[in-house]
Amino acid sequence: MSLLITGGTGYIGSHTVVEIQMLAASEGKEWDIVIVDDLSNSSTKVLDRIKQITSKSVTFIKADVCDYDAMNTLFEQYDIEAVIHFAGHKAVGESSEKPLNYYHNNVSGTVTLLRVMELHKVKKLVFSSSATVYGDNISPLNETMSTSATNPYGQTKLMIEHILFDLAKSDSDWSIACLRYFNPIGAHHSGLIGENPNGIPNNLLPYVAQVAVGRLAQLQVFGDDYDTVDGTGVRDYIHVVDLAQGHVKALQNLDKITGCKAINLGTGNGTSVLEIVNTFKEISQQDIPYKIVPRRLGDLATVYANADLANELLVESNKKFTNDD
Ligand code: UFG
Repeated sequence: MSLLITGGTGYIGSHTVVEIQMLAASEGKEWDIVIVDDLSNSSTKVLDRIKQITSKSVTFIKADVCDYDAMNTLFEQYDIEAVIHFAGHKAVGESSEKPLNYYHNNVSGTVTLLRVMELHKVKKLVFSSSATVYGDNISPLNETMSTSATNPYGQTKLMIEHILFDLAKSDSDWSIACLRYFNPIGAHHSGLIGENPNGIPNNLLPYVAQVAVGRLAQLQVFGDDYDTVDGTGVRDYIHVVDLAQGHVKALQNLDKITGCKAINLGTGNGTSVLEIVNTFKEISQQDIPYKIVPRRLGDLATVYANADLANELLVESNKKFTNDD
């Protein structure tokens, strides 16, 4: 049986492909992986790197998930058992400039994928959601809290979650894990795959890394007047390999979920911008020049997860879970 991974050449997708090959094999469940990606924010070089790390090949299809015919052909060609759906745009700022691109690519793309899955009776899905759906709720954030969004990117994630909940309610054959990511950082220990954003990075860690290697002169720290440990923003940074392993666990535990279940993937710990900068400096032995600038529009002071449900559902128990909206 095959596992379809949309967006599998991207940052989180590629690490997840590696972990599925490594972990799933060690637990006796081998998957034939089919990656579909339009390469809009990634490269086929990643496929060679995955093979170098895992000694296994994957099937790659260059296509856009919005393309119904291409997706349908893919499902006709391969015996897909389950899907992990990463494909989507993710730049918060850009989403306000090009909202239609975001709604089309993320929301229409997912609906197209779901229609094809339904047609082929493939009803197991792990979806890439985001902690952004918690809006301005106070941390620690747990899955029972209300949801809202403040930018088109966040709206697309929230809309897709609603679509998935409605779909799972309409047909109890669906098993869907909606993984709400906090802040993924880091790279595979081999150094062969990692985060490689186009242009100037939006996110803290790739920015800091580029300052460390001298590609960018100075980090701008967005605000030091928040009500936090040192006044800078606090986030829940989760290593991308841990996040990837969370996907393997979600996949392995999908049969425990009847309907659609939202699950946080975070560490449960908050770290400030300056704590990150100082730790990076200490470990890399490189200077990280920075200056404090005004707050970035839309940023919250503190965002971190309550990670109990992930522990309960993905790590510990044999409990069954049902639709939770
Ligand atoms: N920051 C800086 N300077 C920078 C970049 C970031 O000081 O150059 C600060 C931010 O103000 C924030 C922290 O570093 O306090 C983290 O910022 P990121 O941009 O790395 O991440 P965000 O928490 O803003 O956003 C991330 C993802 C979003 C997702 C959100 C969910 O990028 O896609 O988490 O909570 F929606």
